[in-house]
Amino acid sequence: MGFLDPERLRIGEHGTPPDLAPLRELARRMREERDRMLGFPFNLDFDYRPLAEFLAVHGNNVGSPRTDSHYRIDTRPFEVAVLDFFTGVAGGDPAHVSGYVTTGGTESNLFAVWVARERHPDAVLYASAEAHYSLPKIGGLLRMPYVEVATADDGTMDTTALLRELVRHPGRAAVVTATIGTTGRGAVDDLPGIRRALAAAGVERSRVHCDAAFGGLLAEFGDEAIPWNLASGADSVALSGHKVIGAPMPCGVVLAPEADVAGIRSAGVAVGADDDTVTGSRDAVSPLLLWHRLHGLGREGVAELVRRCHRTAAHAQRELASIGRNPSRARGGTIVLFDAPAEEVCRRWHLACNERHAALVVMPHVTEQHVDRLCDELRKAG
Ligand SMILES: Cc1ncc(COP(=O)(O)O)c(C=O)c1O
Repeated sequence: MGFLDPERLRIGEHGTPPDLAPLRELARRMREERDRMLGFPFNLDFDYRPLAEFLAVHGNNVGSPRTDSHYRIDTRPFEVAVLDFFTGVAGGDPAHVSGYVTTGGTESNLFAVWVARERHPDAVLYASAEAHYSLPKIGGLLRMPYVEVATADDGTMDTTALLRELVRHPGRAAVVTATIGTTGRGAVDDLPGIRRALAAAGVERSRVHCDAAFGGLLAEFGDEAIPWNLASGADSVALSGHKVIGAPMPCGVVLAPEADVAGIRSAGVAVGADDDTVTGSRDAVSPLLLWHRLHGLGREGVAELVRRCHRTAAHAQRELASIGRNPSRARGGTIVLFDAPAEEVCRRWHLACNERHAALVVMPHVTEQHVDRLCDELRKAG
């Protein structure tokens, strides 16, 4: 890849007229790869170029989205509109929910677990063995005892194992993370089952956080009613912006109980704004992108995006079965696991593969035609 030659990219002592050629070439290749990107939970179907003028101004949403800072070049009203939309989707009561647009699922999880830990400082953090790797990391960052709970055969948290682990920590508070759509196979943890385990173990102080970064929207708008949100027993929720909705940079939202967030809020410290977020300066562009996309789609448009993903995933399952690849799909998910093909096919189609399985991740940019082309290749490869 000559155009990425470090010597050509090196930044010298003196400025030179911008060499756009390697950037253009990189963009061209990134767009080209998009046509075979079937293995990651990112929607590549968007075009925010009409908002390009925001690349020529420094916006900063530092501090709380709902207070003003002295730096008044911000996009807070759009961020608040995005948060209101997601609060509605997550079945939250706006009067009791706080949150902000984050840098993605990891920051959303960190914030939710942090405010829960501040509410219950002695809490043990529980998450399944198939939870995102951010969870054990967050346990370490917050110095919380971390318990990895075994999963059942379908990849969901084994709630009997959770109950066993909870009773091993008598008198301690619990922060339990339910994964709504595991990264590996799209499994959705049993939220009511987690609540039942907490009750059966006699845990009196708890928070249940739903890491719905990947699967929240898929669960909300899928054919089956799957409990996943604030209306069905979660205290807090993490949702991604760049996964189902799509964005050029990672982003997400976190929603948590206002009563807990109030406990970590510092008045006026963030350039005059209240600080109730993890970072200092905050990206003012991603709220605009999310607003632009969501405003264009509306709730019904998002639902249709999701329904299309489920239809395409069902198509993939049928087609892969017809060529003997033993596909399987978690309830409510759009990841289709199938017998791993040759490494070269995995690489070409950006599929995550292990010795047994390849994972086809159906996001809105993945069409039935993509699936058919992949199946053709698999058929020819034998
Ligand atoms: C279930 C789940 N949680 C959290 C994350 C982390 O999100 P991010 O990479 O945006 O930090 C991911 C990302 O793949 C995920 O699938």
